[in-house]
Amino acid sequence: MEIDIFTLFPEWFAWMTEQRHVRNAIAAGTSIECVNFREHTPLGAGQVDDTPFGGGAGMVLRVDVLDSALRARYQVDPVHLREQRRVIALTPGGRLLDDELASALAAAPALTLLCGRYEGFDERIIEHFCSEQLSIGRYVLAGGELAAMVVCDAVLRKLPGALGHEQSVVEESYSEALDGRPEYPHYTRPAEYRGWRVPAVLLSGHHERIAAWRLKRSIERGGLDTRGEAGKREDDSER
Ligand code: 6GU
Repeated sequence: MEIDIFTLFPEWFAWMTEQRHVRNAIAAGTSIECVNFREHTPLGAGQVDDTPFGGGAGMVLRVDVLDSALRARYQVDPVHLREQRRVIALTPGGRLLDDELASALAAAPALTLLCGRYEGFDERIIEHFCSEQLSIGRYVLAGGELAAMVVCDAVLRKLPGALGHEQSVVEESYSEALDGRPEYPHYTRPAEYRGWRVPAVLLSGHHERIAAWRLKRSIERGGLDTRGEAGKREDDSER
């Protein structure tokens, strides 16, 4: 898989590419490259944005700048780029990232992530160059970079070899194996700590009973909505 990230802050991504699962993915053949679109601006003094027509606060990324940067990278008129690869604008109002979308992106051969800053993109960038807009939540970040890192993290860990333990991706929260439900709770040693006991069934060695217990706990958690209710606890002590 090939991931290209267009950003004004390529150096931020050095931290991400040092992380183990990201390095594993790169070692297994994924490429992650950053393009600083300031380096491709046709305007003077590295200008990439401008004031909005109609007035208002903030600055807007210019369509001619993105045209130049995409053209320089792919050697095609960027209006045709989305026929070849997913070209994703990171915007607070875009489609919400969830496990299903992360899986679909992980199956794509090539992604282009466009990180906006300031007030975002000239709408013609979205309309003519992008295949979709993606958001990581209903709040506004100062720019798309952190969102792009979230997308990369969620996508790369789904690629073979990234985690080292294939099963950990199959049966995890929101996955198909759990019918989109949150994952069941996990425990490790010590089996008792400050009087808090690990559920006895997990120590039983009885695989079917363990599987049934995990399914039940996952279903119990799964009826809860996404506004933090899943974080509220009932009394777990005797389970
Ligand atoms: Cl993708 N971009 C920005 N600027 N803010 C966001 C976001 C993206 N997703 C949630 N908030």
